[in-house]
Amino acid sequence: MNRRQFLAAAVLSGLASGCGSSSGSGSDPAAFRTELRVPPLLKPKVGEDGTRTFALTMQRGRSEILPGKPVETWGFNGPHLGPTIRAARGDKVRMTVTNRLDEPSTVHWHGMRLPAKMDGGPHQTIEPGGTWTPHWTIDQPAATSWYHPHPHGQTAKHVYRGLAGMFIIDDQSVPGLPSRYGVDDFPLIFQDKNLAEDGSPTGDPLKGTFGILGDHMLVNGTYQAFVNVRTEQVRFRMLNGSNARMYHLSFADRRTFHIVGNDAGLLAAPVEVDQVSLTPGERVEVVVTFAAGEQVLLRTLAGSDDIDEGDFDLLKIVAAPRLAASPPLPARLGGPATIVVPPNATVRRFRLNGHDAINGKEMDMSRIDEVIPAGAVEIWEIENTVYAHNFHIHEVAFQVLDVDGDKPAAYASGHKDTVYVPPKSTVRLAVQFGRFTDPAMPYMYHCHILRHEDSGMMGQFVIVKPGTENQVSRTIAAHHE
Ligand code: C2O
Ligand code: CU
Ligand code: CU
Repeated sequence: MNRRQFLAAAVLSGLASGCGSSSGSGSDPAAFRTELRVPPLLKPKVGEDGTRTFALTMQRGRSEILPGKPVETWGFNGPHLGPTIRAARGDKVRMTVTNRLDEPSTVHWHGMRLPAKMDGGPHQTIEPGGTWTPHWTIDQPAATSWYHPHPHGQTAKHVYRGLAGMFIIDDQSVPGLPSRYGVDDFPLIFQDKNLAEDGSPTGDPLKGTFGILGDHMLVNGTYQAFVNVRTEQVRFRMLNGSNARMYHLSFADRRTFHIVGNDAGLLAAPVEVDQVSLTPGERVEVVVTFAAGEQVLLRTLAGSDDIDEGDFDLLKIVAAPRLAASPPLPARLGGPATIVVPPNATVRRFRLNGHDAINGKEMDMSRIDEVIPAGAVEIWEIENTVYAHNFHIHEVAFQVLDVDGDKPAAYASGHKDTVYVPPKSTVRLAVQFGRFTDPAMPYMYHCHILRHEDSGMMGQFVIVKPGTENQVSRTIAAHHE
């Protein structure tokens, strides 16, 4: 059916988006007929001392991105994507990550505060057939984090094949926030693919300026998905797991909803919006109110950048004829303290131009770019002289001070670990570093557009005992564990 026929049909079926909207993004809501896959929660083995051991296996498999067309995809413990890991502050966790692929990979815990050796960056290689067993104690506020491979030069490919999963961290519960996984609290992993005739993902994630910008939008690996909701309020934990695409998410009827969390934790108070933008690697937690019996499409609208071309519908939400009452959204979420920048704070500048270097230097696994004293709060100034980039720092939490001198949107005022850096602009961050020291094992910072990260728009920093900065060697052997 062409667009005019669709609009006519949509008006007849009462599903057209708000008052004669001229939105060009309308797909047929009836096409959204595959139930949203909700990644299962991964059950840990609890040891004598309380350590919770989670087992992940990277493997190839077959899954149906288009219904009825099984194709090769990669996943953790299954054919595509991975289970959701859930752990609480104070938990001792251990991961056993086994690589059953035919090539080396790594698994990085994006958003996790942990020692560099456990971080799963490009130095923690897992050879085919090998198993890596990092362990740490969860010690950070409640947040929606995630995990994905990070082998240098191969991240774009491994993520595009399907290796990614969510990692939910719990802390004190906030009464009134929906929190029943798969009932009123859903993970939504947004990814775009280009699909060949036979339904398999195609395209070279290292080609062109941005790599992959797909025209098939998947949510949790499901194309044209619907999800049934049974409560008035529903929390969505949204993750942009795409290689390059930026989303501007809103509902077809432009209803408002509340942002309750950023990458690294809950906000101080809910912020009402009717749209939220997410670049690759970023997360946002939202709470949406539904009316009994209604259906509404979640969509992404085109922006003016190169990485947000096109309007696309993503997911149809179908509210049951009767909805369980939800408590009112809490006025306070207990969200983060402001990161206080000391008057003499170190300022570091990072210049993004082109797509394969930072400050003119291509990523080098054996070079330490920055040495940071443990516990420091610093100002990092990210200047982008060209087209779209973003910036992610491992291990830290940061707050956006300003973008070209302007305060960030209220909804982006919380603690984050990944931030959009618009073309030809400068973003200033107040960065809170952690306390795990290791002069010989670096953490990464990089553009999270995977094509850029893989081609060298990445650097390495170590965290060291304050006062020892000048004793640290600036070169390291390329580690393999
Ligand atoms: Cu999400 Cu260095 O990665
Ligand atoms: Cu990370
Ligand atoms: Cu970039």
